[in-house]
Amino acid sequence: MSAQTELPASLRAYLEKSNVALAVSETDGDMPLTMVNAAFCELTGYDPEDVVGRNCRLLQGPETSDDSRRALHDFAHDPAQDAGRFPVLNYRKDGSSFHNYVFMTRLRDSRGTAHFILASQFDMTTALQRSQIRVNDAELHHALSDVEQIGREFGLAMVGSAQIISDSVATLARLTLDEDRR
Ligand SMILES: Cc1cc2nc3c(=O)[nH]c(=O)nc-3n(C[C@H](O)[C@H](O)[C@H](O)COP(=O)(O)O)c2cc1C
Repeated sequence: MSAQTELPASLRAYLEKSNVALAVSETDGDMPLTMVNAAFCELTGYDPEDVVGRNCRLLQGPETSDDSRRALHDFAHDPAQDAGRFPVLNYRKDGSSFHNYVFMTRLRDSRGTAHFILASQFDMTTALQRSQIRVNDAELHHALSDVEQIGREFGLAMVGSAQIISDSVATLARLTLDEDRR
């Protein structure tokens, strides 16, 4: 059975309005993006028509490390993983770089088959931006609870997201420390 590829309209409408950057992909094929919201466009400088239908690796570039790419790859290609968060160097449309802390979660049906991956991008380039993670994550958490509720009407569920988000502040602090030690 091929995966459901049409994002329910009410879910799409909700995601479009969120203040946190959000992107959704299919799980089939090369996982093309099916939608990005305005906050994603503001962060990356891309318009939806630049990115929808393409894989989100388009944000990566020359200085993106193989290790960070591999972690994303392992998540994307392991259907057993529910949710995760990954630091990766990304590039905006204008070529400027930013340190992205990407959250990803699978939306699954009652049989456990994933139909979509929902991702959220957070710019952690500067200390000031990093200090905003609690605000960002409170909004992300809220958005995911709503997505869970709307998704349920369509038989779609998420697992493990709340834990990943609540662990993120500590993980980000650790990442920052590691960077400072280098
Ligand atoms: C919905 C979704 C959003 C993603 N967002 C990002 C992102 O913001 N930045 C990034 O570098 N990779 C992102 N990725 C990961 C890449 O698209 C890709 O899965 C990753 O580079 C590993 O696969 P590859 O080895 O085939 O490139 C996202 C993936 C998905 C499915």
